Amino acid sequence: MNDTMTLSQRADALEQQMSDELDYIVIKSRLYSLADGDMSPPPNAGALMAKNPKLRVLMGDDPRLPPMPEKPTLVDFFKYRFGPAMHVLQSARHAVNAGLPEKMVLACLLHDISTMGFIRGDHGYWGAQLVEPYVDEEVTWAIRAHQVLRFYPDESVGYEYPQSYVKAFGVDYRPDPYVEEDYRRMRNHKWYMSGRMITLHDIYSFDPSVHVELEEFTDVIGRNFRQPKEGLGFDNSPVAHMWRAMIRPAKYL
Ligand SMILES: [Fe+2]
Ligand SMILES: [Fe+2]
Repeated sequence: MNDTMTLSQRADALEQQMSDELDYIVIKSRLYSLADGDMSPPPNAGALMAKNPKLRVLMGDDPRLPPMPEKPTLVDFFKYRFGPAMHVLQSARHAVNAGLPEKMVLACLLHDISTMGFIRGDHGYWGAQLVEPYVDEEVTWAIRAHQVLRFYPDESVGYEYPQSYVKAFGVDYRPDPYVEEDYRRMRNHKWYMSGRMITLHDIYSFDPSVHVELEEFTDVIGRNFRQPKEGLGFDNSPVAHMWRAMIRPAKYL
């Protein structure tokens, strides 16, 4: 492609290149395009298929991603979608070493699954929703709360505002008003300390020299995560479609 092409010529050339290379067309969800700052209309699947009748949009598995079992377990998601997951594995081990109860170890293990496999912004809210049908209510609550509580220090347990946040967000950063409001609500909740424990064992500075295997937590998961027998994504739960979105993130419809 050369620089003298108009925008639409470039788009045509790109589409042509794509259809030459693949026998399927990837049409991204708008959210992915918006995250690229791209407001342009999606590629026209109909026009592409008219040029190359062999082409299909993705309705099944995405050949670019590792295949997942028919009835995926939480461990399968760690293996095929979330990996390498060292941050949450280190956090969970930290919680074990501090003598936290099993369900809180699970909360630490799951606290960032949304950033690892789904959506970053508001990841505590998304993550809590993802696991809600399968874990103790307190675990869900704590995962949601860590989203908010990590912005607020608590001297009583030695939790300080993370230095990495000062670096990442700037010294003047203040959480959004809805976070402030949630903080005030959560501060007075009976499970406040459970949410706080996640922030305390959250490994803000990832240590590349510490290696933790998921197998270390097989029993904790087995005892505290109600794995649906139909597989995550296929159990008709209110969040099944969210797990399916991670299995097939480029599904056309
Ligand atoms: Fe987090
Ligand atoms: Fe974290």
